[in-house]
Amino acid sequence: MQFIYLNARKLLLNNIVSSRKIPPAYYINVHMILKKVKAFSLILLAIGCYFLPASSMFIKPDKDDGLALTPPMGWNSWNIFQADINQAKIEETADAMVSSGMRDAGYNYLVIDDGWMAEQRNSDGQLCGDPQKFPLGMKSLGDYIHSKGLKFGLYECRGYLTCQKLPGSYYHEEQDMKTFAFWGVDYVKLDGCYAERNKRPSDVDLSIYSEAIKKSGRPMVLSISDFGNGSWAWGAKDFTHLWRTSYDIRPNMESIFYCANTSGGNGVIDSAFNGLWQFAGPGHWNDPDMLEVGNLTSVIQDKLHFSLWCMLAAPLMAGNDLREMPDSIRNILTAKEVIAVDQDPRGFQGYKVFDNGKQQVYNKPLSAGTTAVLLLNMDKENADVTVHWDQIGLHGSQKVRDLWKETDLGYFNNFFVAKNLPQYGNLLIKVGTPGGKMIAGPQPVPVEKYTVTRDGTTWLSDIYYLMKQGDAPVKDKNFKGKEISIAGIQYKKGLNCQTSSRIMYSLNGKADRFQAVVGIDDAYRGDAPAQFKVYNGDYFGGQVLFDSGKLGKDSAMKVDVDVKEVKYILLTVDGKNVEADWADAKVIAK
Ligand code: GAL
Repeated sequence: MQFIYLNARKLLLNNIVSSRKIPPAYYINVHMILKKVKAFSLILLAIGCYFLPASSMFIKPDKDDGLALTPPMGWNSWNIFQADINQAKIEETADAMVSSGMRDAGYNYLVIDDGWMAEQRNSDGQLCGDPQKFPLGMKSLGDYIHSKGLKFGLYECRGYLTCQKLPGSYYHEEQDMKTFAFWGVDYVKLDGCYAERNKRPSDVDLSIYSEAIKKSGRPMVLSISDFGNGSWAWGAKDFTHLWRTSYDIRPNMESIFYCANTSGGNGVIDSAFNGLWQFAGPGHWNDPDMLEVGNLTSVIQDKLHFSLWCMLAAPLMAGNDLREMPDSIRNILTAKEVIAVDQDPRGFQGYKVFDNGKQQVYNKPLSAGTTAVLLLNMDKENADVTVHWDQIGLHGSQKVRDLWKETDLGYFNNFFVAKNLPQYGNLLIKVGTPGGKMIAGPQPVPVEKYTVTRDGTTWLSDIYYLMKQGDAPVKDKNFKGKEISIAGIQYKKGLNCQTSSRIMYSLNGKADRFQAVVGIDDAYRGDAPAQFKVYNGDYFGGQVLFDSGKLGKDSAMKVDVDVKEVKYILLTVDGKNVEADWADAKVIAK
């Protein structure tokens, strides 16, 4: 095998990999040969793996590695192609990134998502490109991408399998990052499927990857996908450059607003935070998922989606087919002054200053004297949307520029109105005087409001949770606005959750015990059971400290667990639309 591998490498690398000028017909031939001669695929597999260098220069940069100082921009294969990818599609996309002006507009990462790898690692345990899809191997593909002045991104997963059930990196972390480095990878998208089986909390898992990347000797942006399980809360910024805040985006407006609301609204955090803005900044970004611009049903929707992502300082990873992109879409994705809002070096994520469920106004303080404001209408009826200068830290007469039209609109006193916006219509403006005094942003929520800092008792309903999935818990009341009540006993404090729900609290290693009484609220009329669990850490690999099993109505169970040294706890309740209580939920510190 080793012999075949060595000779195959010599023969084929000399003749194939070194030459980039292969006529397209060659690929077709390779595919035909592959179909006919099964053994040949072994050789191609060997090429896909290539050799790793005998030694690599180890560097040990801090997480402050200077990467992703502004939100990464690029293109990713998943939203448009899913796993149906191959060498030709990727190379044509690389070409299109250049010819369409996308690269020059800042989209420099070309990221290949799930579906690129062979079903098996090779005999050395190394990952290989799928020999059918990528007959020339991943290194060769990376070379092609680099030759276009682009950077190369590749997907992996920290579980033992990827979400498409291909080989994951669990237990191969160092080896895989070394392979990636050798292939010239600049950006790793690391997924989270099956990671709960690793039995390692996310911070442990991610520290292994960040170390492995350092050891590989090649700087790589680390982008993680854990579907909004609280990366901002457990400190992903120490190990990664961007993290997902949502489940997968889909090409419809409901999904666009859901994803935007995870980062810019209260979709995944206590409403006291007004979104996740305080957890983002240069080198660490909230990621409401990749763009669907060009995949939505109208240009007005595409434009609003893009405005929102730029206001949210979101990574801008295009997800449309660049090979057949109409001008209307290219003009959106390359709109210079709109992109400049996303890429502003201050790195302040936008936040909402107004939301009545039909219209919204976002503000994003920029560098030096100006701020970006997005006014949008979600309603079917046309509407005027107003921003008052005092909502964005300004007053008096202010200069306003329309960033889509790239035209100055003049000076406006005290407020500005976007008139008669149709459904999904939006106006993106820059307010203020460029080069003027920096406009202050809002104050972040102070740490003591969302973590345990005091000795004695801290009721969880008195501090803010850092992550939620499912509906927001009701604090110190049940869903009917009455006292929490389980099996006839009433409680003044606690959380009422509609299942299924996950809530994460920071304990800061300060608390000794977590105590509560759990059960189904007496106001619930159905007969479905609920199951309560307390995790030390997050859902991925967090150790279960308490498990109630399935609890039916009219039964209460006491929880009293040791939480010494615990940084975060996750409270989960599973069941079918059951109203479940964490009555009297509190932590005790000596
Ligand atoms: C999902 C991820 C998607 C895509 C997909 C690939 O978990 O959120 O962005 O990477 O896996 O299988």
